[in-house]
Amino acid sequence: MKSAVLGYLKERCPNYVSGEEICRSLNISRTSVWKYVSTLRNEGYEIEARSRLGYRLVGTPDLLLPDEVVTGLDTLFCGQVYHHHLSLPSTNTTAQELARAGAPEGTVVLAEEQTGGRGRLSRAWVSPLGGLWFSIILRPTVLPARAPEITFLAAVACVQAFERYPGVDVGIKWPNDLVWRDRKLGGILTELSGEFDRVNHVVLGVGINVNLNEDDFPPGLRAVTTSVSAITGFPVSRRRLLRELLVSLEHWYRVWLADGFSPVVQAWKRMHSWLDRPVRVVNVEGEWTGIAVGIDDDGALLLKTDNGLTKRIIAGDVLLRDGERLDPRS
Ligand code: BTN
Repeated sequence: MKSAVLGYLKERCPNYVSGEEICRSLNISRTSVWKYVSTLRNEGYEIEARSRLGYRLVGTPDLLLPDEVVTGLDTLFCGQVYHHHLSLPSTNTTAQELARAGAPEGTVVLAEEQTGGRGRLSRAWVSPLGGLWFSIILRPTVLPARAPEITFLAAVACVQAFERYPGVDVGIKWPNDLVWRDRKLGGILTELSGEFDRVNHVVLGVGINVNLNEDDFPPGLRAVTTSVSAITGFPVSRRRLLRELLVSLEHWYRVWLADGFSPVVQAWKRMHSWLDRPVRVVNVEGEWTGIAVGIDDDGALLLKTDNGLTKRIIAGDVLLRDGERLDPRS
C-alpha cells in the first residue's frame, strides 16, 4: 500500500493530491495515509503536507529503494524480488545466505555501499556510495562445469547495457573485467554452490563504478580505474542503469539457457577490448607473454606466444605489456 501511495504522489507530481482522494481511491483511512507518508519520509522522500491542499512529492532520495527500482521493471524474474540495504559487508555474501534459505531465482541484493566488497582471486573490491553493487541469485539446471559461462554472459550483458550511453564504449578484458580505455570500470564475481553433478545456486555479483570521483579510490588504483561519471562528465542515473542492467542480464541468461554458450561467445568476441595487443598472463601455474588473439568456443584465452605457438589459457590475470599497467585491483 505504501507503494500505491507513492505511486499516487508521483503521478500527480508537482501538484498536490488531497488526503481524501488518496483515502477514497485506495480505500484506506486518513490515519493510514499519514502512516505511509511518514514511512516514505523516513526512507528519504520529501513530501510536503498543506492543509486544504493535501500532499505533494518534492524530492526523491538518491537511493535505489525498492519502489524506485522494481515498479515498472521490465523483467520476468530478475529483480522482481529485491533486497535493498544502505550498507552491507558484501552483497554476494548476503545473497548466498538468502539462496541457501530458498530465495527464488532472480532475487537481487543491492547495497548502497559495501564495507567488505570482494573481487576475483580474494581481492578487496572498493565499494563506496555512488556505485552499483548488487548480486543476483540464479538457479540454472546445468552441470557445475558450465557455471563459469555465466560470468561471460554477464560481461556481455553489461557491455550491451552501456551501448545506450554515448561515449561510454565499454569493452571486456578477459575473462570479465569491464574496461574503458584500459581502465577498469566494473567487475563480475560469480560464486557457485553445487554438488558434483548439479548446481544448487549461483550468485552473480556485479560492481560498476558509476558516480565516483578519483578520491573515492585509494591512490594506488586511481591511474587504472574510472567511473561512468568521470567518462561522461556528469552524474548518471543509477536507477536507470540498474534497470537496464537487470533487463540485459535476464535477456542474456535466457539466451544462454535456451541456445547454449555459442551466442554468448560470438557476442563476447565483438567486445574483446585487448584483441591483438601484447599482454602478459599470470596464473598459479606460471606466466606467459604474447599477443591476445581471441577466445575459443569454451571461453579460453588464446595467446600467441613469442615462440609462435598458440597457448590456451583457462584462468588467470591479463596485463597489458605496453607501459606494463598494473592489474586494476591487484
Ligand atoms: C572483480 O574482481 O573484478 C570482481 C568484482 C565484483 C564486485 C561485486 S560488487 C557486488 C558483489 N559483491 C561483492 O562483494 N563483490 C561483487
